[in-house]
Amino acid sequence: MGVGRLSSHQTQGAVSTLVEQYKDLPGAMLPLLHAIQAELGYVPDSAVPVIAKGLNLSRAEVHGVISFYHDFKTHPVGKHSVQICRAEACQSMGSRQLEAHAKALLGVDYHETTADGNITLEPVYCLGNCACSPSIRIDDDIHARVSPERFEQLISQLGVSK
Ligand code: FES
Repeated sequence: MGVGRLSSHQTQGAVSTLVEQYKDLPGAMLPLLHAIQAELGYVPDSAVPVIAKGLNLSRAEVHGVISFYHDFKTHPVGKHSVQICRAEACQSMGSRQLEAHAKALLGVDYHETTADGNITLEPVYCLGNCACSPSIRIDDDIHARVSPERFEQLISQLGVSK
């Protein structure tokens, strides 16, 4: 996780420093993106032109890599990650209702973070737990057969006020 919210000036400075460090390495793109995410918690859109210039690539190529690897986040993330499975087995067992409930409860849409910076809500496409749908992941833990009530219990354990 990153170092908290930085100003855009600080963010650009951190990105430029890392680009300088990595740009001459063979296959620099992935290690550089991981280093940026480790430093900032995400890879901001404003980093794309800096990376493209440093690695002598097009912006589209950089965007392509960031969007191909789902590990890369493009928005600031909260202290906790809450992912709701949107794949077929979970949808057939009510994950759409669960996601509507989650969005209303947290007051955010997917890829957004609660106002207190505590939780980022994200979709995920199969957690390998289809037999126990609907499934969610909170940080590193997968939870099975999550009803809206169970979701509220789990969220309350993360220290969020409704
Ligand atoms: S479809 Fe949700 S865990 Fe597989």
